[in-house]
Amino acid sequence: MSKQVPGKFVTFEGVEGGGKSSNIAAVKTFLEAQGKQVVTTREPGGTPLAEEIRTTLLRPRDEPVDEMAELLLVFAARAQHFNTFIKPALAKGTWVLCDRFTDATYAYQGAGRGLSVDTIATLETLVQGDVRPDLTLLFDLDVGLGLERARGRGALDRFEQQEQVFFERIRTLYLQRAHTESYYRLVDASASIETVRADVQTIITQFLSC
Ligand code: TMP
Repeated sequence: MSKQVPGKFVTFEGVEGGGKSSNIAAVKTFLEAQGKQVVTTREPGGTPLAEEIRTTLLRPRDEPVDEMAELLLVFAARAQHFNTFIKPALAKGTWVLCDRFTDATYAYQGAGRGLSVDTIATLETLVQGDVRPDLTLLFDLDVGLGLERARGRGALDRFEQQEQVFFERIRTLYLQRAHTESYYRLVDASASIETVRADVQTIITQFLSC
């Protein structure tokens, strides 16, 4: 019997308003046309339990949320999602397209909330072992423009209610990681929808040919 080739793990990152979601759907359609088995999912979330944790994390509340409590909730959701959904799918040879993953934790809980990289890295290894994305598309754009787009969508969640400077720290961290982590590819998300779509397709085509 031939050995199953593991699927690829592709994540989509960036500050709010970068257009990740619509591009994930386009990448799925593109990959399926190439004969790939593909699932899409998101973090926090992706399973019923993890989606409940997402609701808890995103709901605005009067009580101040402790940074460590937030971090542990993010990784609790991730443990459930990773072990019951992502890992089995990859093992079956399915491509997993995930709207945010642990790079978002380095950005939001690390750069945004000020938690240490070492703490996040420890939890990352505890939950995921040595699994990291094969490819991460970073949808980068001016924070003000992204927030304007996101805030035009309606009621703000607990993260979207943060000051602009919080998102500036997050963008800076993502751009730093784009330079240091070889699995990153940068997408200029301030370009037109058509240009962004074409850039994403070029990146995926290049990745497929590797
Ligand atoms: P979304 O609006 O892009 O779906 O993401 C939900 C929010 O969760 C977004 O504001 C970023 C935040 N988040 C974290 O703070 N840490 C994480 O590890 C992840 C995956 C998301």
